[in-house]
Amino acid sequence: MILFYFSGTGNSKFVARQFCRAAGAECHSVEEDAAFDALIRAHDTVGFCYPVYGSYVPRPMREFVAAHVDALAGRRFVVLCTQLVFSGDGAHELCAFLPGGEESVVYAEHVDMPNNICNFPLFAVKNGAQNARRLRAAKRKILRAADEVGRGVVRRRGFNPLSILLGKSQSKFWPAVEEKAARDVQIDADCIRCGLCVRLCPMKNLTMGENGVEQAGRCAVCYRCVDACPQRAITVMFHKKPTLQYKGIAKDSSI
Ligand SMILES: Cc1cc2nc3c(=O)[nH]c(=O)nc-3n(C[C@H](O)[C@H](O)[C@H](O)COP(=O)(O)O)c2cc1C
Repeated sequence: MILFYFSGTGNSKFVARQFCRAAGAECHSVEEDAAFDALIRAHDTVGFCYPVYGSYVPRPMREFVAAHVDALAGRRFVVLCTQLVFSGDGAHELCAFLPGGEESVVYAEHVDMPNNICNFPLFAVKNGAQNARRLRAAKRKILRAADEVGRGVVRRRGFNPLSILLGKSQSKFWPAVEEKAARDVQIDADCIRCGLCVRLCPMKNLTMGENGVEQAGRCAVCYRCVDACPQRAITVMFHKKPTLQYKGIAKDSSI
């Protein structure tokens, strides 16, 4: 089995790596520069791991699937989604892009992970030990998923009509939000032009121009730059200045 992940701020990378280690699967980021078609064709089962955005599939993952749809044809799929609290059918949403649709998905699971939206007042960001209980629950779910996939157990979280209905109540709004947010990166006067956001952006949306950071209208709203900016100078979608940024899962995490 081979698994591809997209991760804005590290949660989905963590889940992907833990799962692959337990399942003995090969693990790749969609941001790698690799011969993906050849890698896909060498495996019968292909996994995907991504964060849900508005109960929907992030643009980098949609673009990855679209770019490799011919190689993906005829394969079985495992879908792992990370989320803060709720997506309804975040894993099911990928079916619309997969060759073979929902019949080709043999396993789908949602894993609750820490919040990475650091400037929305309703959800506070937590870091370090504050996330321990959530991460322990996540690890149990990941290990169960690896075990069940290995034993051929079919579990398809979010594929029932109620989950799809609940998910759609959010995801039907997401494409419009995503389109508006794609060109809605804002940089405040605290920017020191260090270029970190330019280097980190998975969409190559940001460049350093004569007057500071410029955008190309391709933001995927992954929050990587918002959480990493040393000046907390960059925002997208919500424009409240972050107070506490999400720093990802510590390497020395005990889980
Ligand atoms: C733009 C955006 C939209 C999100 N929408 C949802 C959502 O609809 N439901 C949810 O439970 N979490 C939502 N989240 C939280 C993330 O899915 C969650 O924190 C995820 O684990 C982040 O993964 P990453 O670190 O791999 O990027 C959203 C996060 C972002 C940045």
